[in-house]
Amino acid sequence: MLEGAEGPGVQRAMEIVVTLGRIYGAPDLVPVAHVQIAGVSYKNLGDAGVAFLNEWAAEGARVRAPATLNPAGMELDRWQEMGFSPDFARPQIEAIQAFVQMGVIPTMSCTPYLFPDYAPVRAEHLAWAESSAVVWANSVVGAYTNREGGPSALAAAIVGRTARYGYHLPENRLATHVVEISCPVRTIADFGALSYMVGKRVGDGIPWFADLAAWLPALPADITRGGEAGDRLKTLGAGLAAYGAVALYHVAGYTPEARDQGEALIRPDAHRVVIDNLAEGYGVMDADADVNEIDLVTIGCPHASLSELHYIARRLQGEKLATRLWVTTGQITRARAAQEGWVQIIEEAGGEVVADTCAVVAPVRSLGVRTMATNAGKMANYAPMHSGVKMRYGDIDRCLDAAITGRWKNDQ
Ligand code: F3S
Repeated sequence: MLEGAEGPGVQRAMEIVVTLGRIYGAPDLVPVAHVQIAGVSYKNLGDAGVAFLNEWAAEGARVRAPATLNPAGMELDRWQEMGFSPDFARPQIEAIQAFVQMGVIPTMSCTPYLFPDYAPVRAEHLAWAESSAVVWANSVVGAYTNREGGPSALAAAIVGRTARYGYHLPENRLATHVVEISCPVRTIADFGALSYMVGKRVGDGIPWFADLAAWLPALPADITRGGEAGDRLKTLGAGLAAYGAVALYHVAGYTPEARDQGEALIRPDAHRVVIDNLAEGYGVMDADADVNEIDLVTIGCPHASLSELHYIARRLQGEKLATRLWVTTGQITRARAAQEGWVQIIEEAGGEVVADTCAVVAPVRSLGVRTMATNAGKMANYAPMHSGVKMRYGDIDRCLDAAITGRWKNDQ
């Protein structure tokens, strides 16, 4: 492959994989069971990125490992109806067509682990580029993946292998920080605030949560439904990856490697971190305390699970929303929720169950959005940074109240 026997597209891919392996001193390559490709939105790719993908596809590159796509900058079927411009839609569609030409499956979601066909299993090697999903795979499932970049993930899919370094090696999975929490962590928003505080203190280290299991119900038998525990861990991982550069954490007595290996997983020189309240996290995320009029309430970062959609449908049954609500999710989860009747309930209330995108990768300002509210830790920071919107942050009930009334209430 490296010498070009399988064509220039495969050669380019193998050059990327081998170069990374050399930089990080990998002993060999390891076959990957699944690849998740990020950097799909035209908002991030730009024209140069689209041209690069077209070129790679034209060189005959095709994926050998199953590969799925992160969210794009718009919902693929309803972009016109939702107000996206053709100038944005045209290159966005072109980019996705290039991926599809290479054999990538356009799931358009950051939660491949919520899809029965792609959910990873323990000890599988993966090449995932979505940072929130990387944390889930390594921590909740006990699979092995580095934080790939967009091109390196695609390269791994094309050659079917990745270089064996970093989190693919057990010796690199030991905890660097012991985190002790002495305050309640009850809601998804609490887990988001916690993710900020721990992420900032741990950086690219590996936290060992000594007592977080007390705030986590058991994971559901079918983890692709999310469940209370899954929804909290999804938010925690996304925030740890966004505010630090965490790719793996352990929860004592709870996550698979921690259950099996116990405190042998903690490095002897691990630092101690104590969290006794979440005020710092809330202070940063609920950044615009003077904003009460909300243009867009958004739930689903990472993409909403079935259990979140069920909860929202129950809350919105019989309501009429005063402001725009996006529940962002993957097409696969939306179809499962529609079978249960939950999508219809949310739509009847005036909300939108938006697939393929999210309020960070979509150009929301061009849709007239200036103020947002969310319960998702990663969204609370990324949307203001990427789109210049103002943000309110709080638990899901508070967000849904804002969608129903059109106003964020400070006095709750
Ligand atoms: Fe997913 Fe968008 Fe959040 S890609 S993790 S919903 S920022």
